[in-house]
Parts: sequence; structure tokens; C-alpha cells
Amino acid sequence: MSDRLTDLAIPVIAIDGPSASGKGTVAALVARELGFHYLDSGAIYRVTAHAAQRAGIALDDEDALARLARGLDLRFDGTEVWLAGEPAGDAIRTEQAGRAASRIAALPAVRAALLQLQRDFRRPPGLVTDGRDMGSVVFPDARLKVFLTASAEERANRRYKQLIEKGFDANLAALLQDLRERDARDAARALAPLRQAADAMLLDTTDLAIDEAVQRVVAAYRKAA
Ligand code: DC
Repeated sequence: MSDRLTDLAIPVIAIDGPSASGKGTVAALVARELGFHYLDSGAIYRVTAHAAQRAGIALDDEDALARLARGLDLRFDGTEVWLAGEPAGDAIRTEQAGRAASRIAALPAVRAALLQLQRDFRRPPGLVTDGRDMGSVVFPDARLKVFLTASAEERANRRYKQLIEKGFDANLAALLQDLRERDARDAARALAPLRQAADAMLLDTTDLAIDEAVQRVVAAYRKAA
């Protein structure tokens, strides 16, 4: 665990938003452009749900899930997540894994167990992170907070293309319904719901190319730094 006061000097860019809004792609590219570290916090929830299913823990057993989350042996290598020395691979990128992640993410004890683990990614020279509560809960002192979104139809389209490229089966109508259900659950939960923070910049990427979204975030950060 690192020193809180030293940590506060390390800049964080927090990019929150709904599923498949492109926030992960944008966050990773912003990190590359600035030479910062990158944390995909959704992957932490996905890998926790995956580990629970492998261990036979029910997705509503809050105590057992929190215990599991506290003892997770996690490592990131680029966009690959390693769980107990093994790459988790595409198993955590399926829609089923996203749904499972969203369910355990609604449990307060699980969120509490994963809090410090996420804060430990704050390392010099800076961190770009994406999720649902990066600006509101995990890094409330982030130098720049962005709420990155796009229409549900556009997000379903993007997710569809992504899945097909990876060789998975996909159905556009089912994806759209799934995204809407996941948004509703992530927005309705009592703790750290999906919501644009009052101090977050809104970036709607429905009609925006990835590069353009990246440049807007970098420009806003340089202005704020
Ligand atoms: O960003 P993603 O789709 O990979 O996230 C998967 C699920 O994890 C999402 O439906 C809600 C949850 N999540 C969360 O509650 N808080 C975060 N900071 C990141 C993800």
C-alpha cells in the first residue's frame, strides 16, 4: 500500500461511462499518448466474477465473494489480466462475464474489498482509468473526470463488431437488450451507481471517431494540469 500524501501528487484521469461506450479504448490511448499507466477497472470486476464461478461461489454470496476479492492474485500485462499466474484471456470478455461482473458489482462488500486494490494502481507519472465510479469514489481527487457515453444503439453496434472480430457469435437485438439491462442495473444500485458526476466533462462519442475523442480528453487534461 502506498503513501496517501505522495499519491495525491500523482495525476489521475478518470473516465466513467456505460458498457461499450468506447471508454476502455479511449482511456488506453490517452494513457499511451501521455505515457501514463492504464487501469481497466471493469476487468477487475469481471475477473472477480470469473474466479467466483470457478470456485463454485454463488454470485449473491456477498461474504464469500468479498473474501475471495480480498485474496485475489491479480496482475495486468497490457490489456491481459492474469489470475493466479494464468491469463484470464477472452473468458472475461464475453457478455455472460459482463453480466456476472455487473451482478457482483452491486454488492457493497465486494466494492469495498476491491477499493484499495484499484487505488494501488496510482503510480508515477500518472494513471488513466476507466469504469463506473473512478471519478466519484475510487479517485475523487482525479485531475480530470470524463463521462464518456454514446447512444445505446451505437454501443450495441460497437460491441457486435468487437465480438464478431474475436470470433464469438453475436446477435445485435440481444446485445442491445443486454446493454440496456446492464445500464439499468449499474445505474440503479445503491452504492456507486453509474452516473455523470457534477464535476465530470461529458463526452458523447455517438458521432465521434476514437482519435477525436482521445484528442479531446488529452486537450482537456492539458488545460486542467
Ligand atoms: O466496463 P465493463 O463493461 O468491463 O464492466 C463490467 C461490469 O463491472 C459493469 O457492468 C459494472 C461493473 N463495474 C463497476 O461496477 N464499477 C467499475 N468501476 C467498473 C465496472
